Amino acid sequence: MRVLVTGGAGFIGSNFIRYCLRVYPDWYVVNFDKLTYAGNLENLAGIDEGRYSFVRGDIADPVAVEAVFSQGFDVVVNFAAESHVDRSILDPAPFMRTNVLGTQVLLDAARSHGVVLLVQVSTDEVYGSLEECEPPFTEDSPLAPNSPYAASKAAADMLARAWWNTYRVPVIITRCCNNFGPYQFPEKLIPLVITNAIQDLPIPVYGDGRNIRDWIHVEDHCRAIAAVIERGSPGEIYNIGAGCEVRNIDLVRRILLLLGKSESLIQFVSDRPGHDRRYAIDASRIRRELGWVPTRPLAEALPEVIDWYVANEGWWRRVRSGAYRDYYEAVYSRRWGGGLE
Ligand code: NAD
Ligand code: TYD
Repeated sequence: MRVLVTGGAGFIGSNFIRYCLRVYPDWYVVNFDKLTYAGNLENLAGIDEGRYSFVRGDIADPVAVEAVFSQGFDVVVNFAAESHVDRSILDPAPFMRTNVLGTQVLLDAARSHGVVLLVQVSTDEVYGSLEECEPPFTEDSPLAPNSPYAASKAAADMLARAWWNTYRVPVIITRCCNNFGPYQFPEKLIPLVITNAIQDLPIPVYGDGRNIRDWIHVEDHCRAIAAVIERGSPGEIYNIGAGCEVRNIDLVRRILLLLGKSESLIQFVSDRPGHDRRYAIDASRIRRELGWVPTRPLAEALPEVIDWYVANEGWWRRVRSGAYRDYYEAVYSRRWGGGLE
């Protein structure tokens, strides 16, 4: 099977490519990625290039997308996005271009090339925020995005819905909770806390720290997407959640304890504007219909993930310093041409 992965140089996309090449010996994967600040080809270092290749390009550029689609694919998985809420608050424009316009370009290409399936990787943040007493989001919960990031992902979901209803483009939307695992860009809470704590730097906790997120190990998310590819129904939406709800402050304290660091590193800082209080996912549809279950709960997997960041200090230090951008120049630009912007 030929699979086009967009955004495969980021956190979840790179884990997905590694997962697919390991589990499916007959899959051939092309990674199409713009290499924004979040794209890091070092996340895919050492990968077997017999069944994998990289194309640098922008999903919002119809010419580049047409060129890559003309290679011919059965399945497209769209991870490409601007993904950080805080950045979307500072500058929403790139979120609209990539997350909204880019999705439309991919849907159009999927339509004209007749792909078998396009998986639109979305987020629980499209549903907005829950109070502590409310039940988790189901696929039928209304969309009520609160950040520019969430609004752009909700808009993309609406486009996917419309392309299915109007043109019968075979698209499936997945809405997952917060991921954690190896290769996560250290602007997100868990890798930020781990890498700051290792360096004895202050750990910023927004507001009162009592916001709740459901955390899933990235490999459980990757397995869920693979299950959707293998057994999902086009036109359907699947929530993906681990049922591991934790308050931010409790998560930060747990990481500090596991690293043997003092809680005095914690600094409460001004709250994020429009900060969603709680996300929680009802994943019963994917469990029931596709037989998927999460296998790596936060409590068991967190120590191992912390160990990964401890063992891969060179990786995150190069990311934090910006040196990771040299990797593309050194390894890839001679082969495929073009430098970073
Ligand atoms: P990430 O920021 O780590 O990676 C995004 C990747 O997309 C990068 O490699 C970047 O270079 C690429 N990209 C950005 N703009 C592009 C463009 N215009 N054209 C081509 N490539 C482009 O993000 P992530 O955390 O891996 O998230 C991947 C997807 O999963 C996103 O769609 C996100 O909304 C969704 N998601 C993430 C989480 C999470 O907890 N991280 C949870 C649910 C859903
Ligand atoms: P984040 O990893 O940015 O994911 P999201 O906003 O998509 O859920 O943040 C997770 C939670 O941690 C969220 O409630 C915001 C909070 N947070 C902090 O308290 N401090 C930080 O430095 C960051 C990055 C996040």
